[in-house]
Amino acid sequence: MKAAAGLVLGIETSCDDTAAAVVAGGAEVLSSVVSSQVDLHAVYGGVVPELAGRAHLELLTPIIGEALERAGLDGGKSLDVVAATVGPGLIGSLLVGVSEAKALALAWGVAFAGVNHLEGHLFAALLDHPDIEWPVTVLLVSGGHTLLVSMEGPGRYRLLGQTLDDAAGEAFDKVARFLGLGYPGGPVIERAAARGDAQAFAFPRAMVGEGLDFSFSGLKTAVVHAVRRRPDATDEDVAASFQQAVVDVLVAKAVRAAVSMGARGICLAGGVAANGALRQAVTEACGSLGVPAYLPSLAMCTDNAAMIAAAGWWQVEHLGPTSLDAAADPNLRLPLLA
Ligand code: KG4
Ligand code: ZN
Repeated sequence: MKAAAGLVLGIETSCDDTAAAVVAGGAEVLSSVVSSQVDLHAVYGGVVPELAGRAHLELLTPIIGEALERAGLDGGKSLDVVAATVGPGLIGSLLVGVSEAKALALAWGVAFAGVNHLEGHLFAALLDHPDIEWPVTVLLVSGGHTLLVSMEGPGRYRLLGQTLDDAAGEAFDKVARFLGLGYPGGPVIERAAARGDAQAFAFPRAMVGEGLDFSFSGLKTAVVHAVRRRPDATDEDVAASFQQAVVDVLVAKAVRAAVSMGARGICLAGGVAANGALRQAVTEACGSLGVPAYLPSLAMCTDNAAMIAAAGWWQVEHLGPTSLDAAADPNLRLPLLA
């Protein structure tokens, strides 16, 4: 392997974003290219796995070329690591990124790092806040996951709570689809909510007073019933009341977790962390607790390959390269401390 300049090509193809990035030393983002497939899937109201895999196959090689070029690299020979998401995600999509990463690592004679997508989201926060003091409570809220994690440092995670049914982002996507607002749900709900009254509907805050687990499927059902009962209700009021219910529960649990573990900050991660109401509520809650709120930039909330490259570099340095025999795993879990 080459000298430890730590030049890593990251590849992310776990869902509907095709992304490549070059990160130096696990910290400096030299390029980050994300091609969203939103337009491709929007007509179906959600991600169609077969279409996603085919689109990754078409898009990935040119996007890797663009990421290398924007980083000022002439090909991949000066890289140290090629890192790719190995799970969790859609298997047909994961296989495209993993196969290409292994082939490139082999061709360029560099290490391969198979990265857990959830761990990638945790590293996204580190890229924006390298000065974090441990431990922090991380609220990881995406389209597929809702986790409360005590992070004691890179690679050191304890699971505090998780959703028992729908993920927070999934609830946004399902309510947006029900209201006919489009896909993905988060941004369209947030836009509608900005013009609505968050008090218009008293939607349930499931399990808000107990424990650190979440449940969002009842909230989605409550939205459906409320709209059927009051067909004159505006989408804006429904969206604002729904968003407030999600934010209230997420923040209440994150605060409870932070207090119980004596956390030195609360950190957001995942696509839902782009939500302005959630960011504001977490900032206010941290103000009351007297600890910092670590909010990743919007580009670091949603899926990207810089976070995969950063996690990949840490992994190769601390755990060594991943074998080229390693398989993609659609159900991969966050690796936890014993
Ligand atoms: O992390 P991510 O890009 O992909 C997954 O790993 O799932 O998260 C995507 C999810 C989607 O459910 C999307 O609706 C949600 O994040 N999302 C938002 C916002 N932007 C994206 N949810 C609420 N507010 C937003 N502004
Ligand atoms: Zn994600």
